[in-house]
Amino acid sequence: MLDTVYDKVQIDYFHNPVADGQGDYPAQLKEIFDVQACKRAVTEISQWPSYRATELLSLDGLAKELGIAGIYYKDESTRFGLGSFKSLGGAYEVLCLLQQQISKRVGQQVNFASIRNGSYAELVKEITVISATDGNHGRSVAWGARLFGCQCVIYIHAEVSAGRQTAMEELGAEVVRIAGNYDDSVVEAAKRADDNGWFIVSDTSYEGYTDLPRHVMAGYTVMANEISAQLPADIQLTHTFVQGGVGGLAGAMCGYLWQTLGGKRPRFVIVEPDRADCLFQSARNGEPTVVKVVEESVMAGMSCGKVSFLAWQILSCGTNDFMTIPDELIAPAMRSLADGCYASRPVIAGESAVAGVSALIAACSDPELKEALQLNESSQVLLYGTEGATDPEIYRTLVGRSADEVAATMPVANEDKSC
Ligand SMILES: Cc1ncc(COP(=O)(O)O)c(C=O)c1O
Repeated sequence: MLDTVYDKVQIDYFHNPVADGQGDYPAQLKEIFDVQACKRAVTEISQWPSYRATELLSLDGLAKELGIAGIYYKDESTRFGLGSFKSLGGAYEVLCLLQQQISKRVGQQVNFASIRNGSYAELVKEITVISATDGNHGRSVAWGARLFGCQCVIYIHAEVSAGRQTAMEELGAEVVRIAGNYDDSVVEAAKRADDNGWFIVSDTSYEGYTDLPRHVMAGYTVMANEISAQLPADIQLTHTFVQGGVGGLAGAMCGYLWQTLGGKRPRFVIVEPDRADCLFQSARNGEPTVVKVVEESVMAGMSCGKVSFLAWQILSCGTNDFMTIPDELIAPAMRSLADGCYASRPVIAGESAVAGVSALIAACSDPELKEALQLNESSQVLLYGTEGATDPEIYRTLVGRSADEVAATMPVANEDKSC
């Protein structure tokens, strides 16, 4: 049985006519994002220690409940032991920056392997990377800095949880907490970088800063590549619901699906918190629109007020639908996944991870929206479980059990459990 909260909430929905009837991936977008160019990231990241593909789960229990054919959930809770897909982007961005800088300093092109194996350790140690974050990107940057041996400073805003701060400090980063929101932390980090000759490694892009964030999006394609290999050969996806923060994840997934599947790509739906709906408002206004985040969403990773310049160029024409959801939907979805109601085993899904699940349930609970999105008994939907319990304390509060307690109930091999 679905929680009754889905019948009571307000879901904002906007259909983007610009994306209707699009055929092949437009040539001009290849300059922004090109799957061929991303292969370098895939080759590199899959050689890192502890790399292994994350699981693609079937949420059969939920599909049955919603009256649709299938739901696939990419479970990023185990990615590199950092607990989110973000570990694919920030750490790879650090490596690309180091490659660029070391090549400049030694006067010849150096390769990734020589940085990875410490051939330039003394030079690398002198470089400082800096970033602003809600948590997951910063953790990835801090981890990358430790892996490759440079210094790392991370800016966080007033509402970032203490647990997320500690996780970055444990990876060796100096963490600076500022008084404002995420967008303020981006500005303050940029100023500190300027003052000290440090290097910004951001997961968002803006005019004049597009080179490094391109690598972040390339890193995310590791996940898309794994999904292509893991999806059963006879399944043709009809829909995908993707979380939107600044849009980097969505931009990479949209670009990947569009370029690899052309006109046969699934209907692309972006989901955002109603408190931080910069992509939604940008689509509605037909241009990038800044949203002031007054109250932070529980979906911390998605609590952003400004779209990424690069991502927006893909998403403005490639996104079919935009949705916003309220925070009330998050805890019920986390609990149902933890209880093993939706898949063949319990799933540890963090606050931002369940945004796609929640939006899909909400859409299917509203006949008009279900119809508008053409969700029916033939639909095959892909969702991204973008994080696990990245803040263990928040997870325990929302789910009522710790992630360790939930993990202790796994695996429930081949046992079909319905709640
Ligand atoms: C867990 C999680 N999901 C989704 C997102 C959204 O990604 P993006 O900001 O690239 O849109 C983030 C961003 O930090 C995140 O941490």
